[in-house]
Amino acid sequence: MLPRLPFCLLISLPVLLVQGSAANSSKKSPDAPASPVPHPPPPPQGDPTWTLGLRVYRALRSDSSAGNILFSPLLVASSLGALGEGSAGNTASQVRDLLKPPSPIKAGTQVVELLSEALKSFGEANGTSFHLRASSAVFSKQVPPVNQAFVKQSQTRFRVQHQPLGKGDTKADLKQLQDWAKAGLSGLEGAPLEAEIKAGAGALILTSAVHFKGLWEREFSEDKADRRTFLGKKYTKVVMMHRAGLYRFYEDTDNMVQVLEAPLWGGKARVVLLLPFHVENLARLEKLLTLELLSKWLEKASVTSVAISLPKANITSTLSLQKQLFALGLTDAWDQTLADFSGVSDKSKGKIHLGGVLHWASLELAAQAGKEDADLEEEHIDKPKLFYTDHPFIFFVRDSTTGALLLMGALDHAEGEAFHDEL
Ligand SMILES: *[C@@H]1O[C@H](CO)[C@@H](O)[C@H](O)[C@H]1NC(C)=O
Ligand SMILES: *[C@@H]1O[C@H](CO)[C@@H](O)[C@H](O)[C@H]1NC(C)=O
Ligand SMILES: *[C@@H]1O[C@H](CO)[C@@H](O)[C@H](O)[C@H]1NC(C)=O
Repeated sequence: MLPRLPFCLLISLPVLLVQGSAANSSKKSPDAPASPVPHPPPPPQGDPTWTLGLRVYRALRSDSSAGNILFSPLLVASSLGALGEGSAGNTASQVRDLLKPPSPIKAGTQVVELLSEALKSFGEANGTSFHLRASSAVFSKQVPPVNQAFVKQSQTRFRVQHQPLGKGDTKADLKQLQDWAKAGLSGLEGAPLEAEIKAGAGALILTSAVHFKGLWEREFSEDKADRRTFLGKKYTKVVMMHRAGLYRFYEDTDNMVQVLEAPLWGGKARVVLLLPFHVENLARLEKLLTLELLSKWLEKASVTSVAISLPKANITSTLSLQKQLFALGLTDAWDQTLADFSGVSDKSKGKIHLGGVLHWASLELAAQAGKEDADLEEEHIDKPKLFYTDHPFIFFVRDSTTGALLLMGALDHAEGEAFHDEL
């Protein structure tokens, strides 16, 4: 339903519409909410967060036991970035290769600078476009004295804190790591860690924890009593949130995928959703996913009337990325005799090695917008396309300024009452 506008606003509406449609958007005051189509951010192809994100995602999903997945390519990339700065030789070049985008980054810009900028940009959007808790740390177990330059640089450039692990056994280490993650997730209990963590003497463990709740530019409506079926791994009853409006949208009919970009409040970040036309698991879509194709889809998306339905859901994921990062070429870092962490400590040789890369993430998919949306321009919706996510989809959260990828994930399964309970 359209909001009722006061009379005075109705009169000035044509003026607003004319201004809004003009190509020149620089006249807008900085406080004004962004139009539904802010200038597109740089494409994924030159960005280390997208490069790493897609690689890690594919490595994670090649494991058939995978369920819902959520992780922060930006946090993983920046903690690896910090580690890279503390390493030398082969260890350093393997980290660099992992973060190197296929297309040259704009001249004179280093990967580490892009990561720093992206962290800053997301920090600034926090509280406006979304509520974000994010922390990264490098834990160390009985290591030789750590260089203060490494500690300082990790903190200022990559927001990675150094934390020593206590003298206790494996169980005590795990407890310390889990307590740290819980604090990073605003007190939420993360999903249990499936892999075993054994931090021997000299081990460094990279950890990150992220909790995210986006605030839409325009609110969705939900009817809590009206449950719909989500056709995921199991069929479940979920609350669907609905909204018809103008969104950047593209339909790839050859690949049978819908691509939707929805802005968050203030336009500082956006959510991108990839949905197969029909009910299917994500295997087919995942085989298609490349940076080139994603860039093409985002470029082709244009403002379209779309009627969106999304399940209300919480997505959580706890990951140990050792196997995946090893398979992606980070091989020396784990091996005491091969690893070169001479930037971390002068006495690192034969001792300091990487013992784990752990990641806790949670995301709340809800209906709220950032504020009352009364002062946004009225949208003229005409024959909307249906974007009905009653089956698995892939999603991304990216920064509008730098284009960096804060979050990537897949929803295979939505928590809810089992569908057959109704029969
Ligand atoms: C956009 O607006 C600015 C400031 O109002 C002006 O300097 C500029 O020439 C305009 N550009 C176009 C393309 O109209
Ligand atoms: C976002 O803002 C909240 C509230 O001010 C704060 O607690 C949190 O640490 C901020 N997150 C980041 C990543 O800066
Ligand atoms: C998601 O988590 C939040 C906070 O813990 C809770 O308020 C909300 O009801 C949850 N949503 C669903 C769909 O379970």
